[in-house]
Amino acid sequence: MANPVAEVRNLTKKFGERTILNRLDLTVERGEFVALLGRSGSGKSTLLRVLAGLDDDVTGQATVAGTVSVAFQQPRLLPWRKVWRNVVLGLRQDGVSKSRNRALAEKALAEVQLAEHADDWPLTLSGGEAQRVSLARALVREPGLLLLDEPFGALDALTRIAMHGLVVDLWRRHRPGVLLVTHDVDEALRLAGRVLVLDGGRIVAEHRPRETDHDDLRRRVLADLGVTEDAVA
Ligand SMILES: Nc1ncnc2c1ncn2[C@@H]1O[C@H](COP(=O)(O)OP(=O)(O)O)[C@@H](O)[C@H]1O
Ligand SMILES: [Mg+2]
Repeated sequence: MANPVAEVRNLTKKFGERTILNRLDLTVERGEFVALLGRSGSGKSTLLRVLAGLDDDVTGQATVAGTVSVAFQQPRLLPWRKVWRNVVLGLRQDGVSKSRNRALAEKALAEVQLAEHADDWPLTLSGGEAQRVSLARALVREPGLLLLDEPFGALDALTRIAMHGLVVDLWRRHRPGVLLVTHDVDEALRLAGRVLVLDGGRIVAEHRPRETDHDDLRRRVLADLGVTEDAVA
């Protein structure tokens, strides 16, 4: 536990009488790629919102070192702003010149292979391109912690595979800690160094994909999620 970028201790989140996160503990180390699996409604997005500082109505601790960026399932671009403006939207704007912003946006867009789309309108982009803009917007902040909430969920299968490669590539280059929420077990096993399962408000299982055979691990993770082999065969 040398150098965490996110430390969650004893985190409880309730909506009314319902306890969604129940004394949850979680650590993400600097530069680590962690996938978070869990059934629909298990509280994955709630946890990410807390880590992103979007919800502080909690008890317990959630500490993040450095900047945190989030990318959601939907790219959430402002349609009335050009692509490059969307990229720098989350940056502090005080005293930053337009040309400096433009340069930062161009660099980030080049990293997601969209350099030539800087002056496009968001609505002219494909789903995959819009999601890459959303990634550029997350990266331009140079986050220590990158939160990805089902970022590939709305994409077609081929675009999804291309995005996997891109995200791993960006992670290798910038080395943020990544917490990737997905409902796709294979995606989690392929991308992450550590796979966590959220259930009943807590992390109930932890696996390190590289140490085990993926087929075997896939069965175990599905079991953690309450899915039996018969159901997926
Ligand atoms: N703002 C809210 N008010 C009330 N209940 C909420 C709110 N946001 C989420 N919930 C509930 O909390 C539970 C966890 O939601 P969420 O974190 O979005 O799950 P997941 O991302 O794992 O599918 C769900 O039952 C959801 O209905
Ligand atoms: Mg969610």
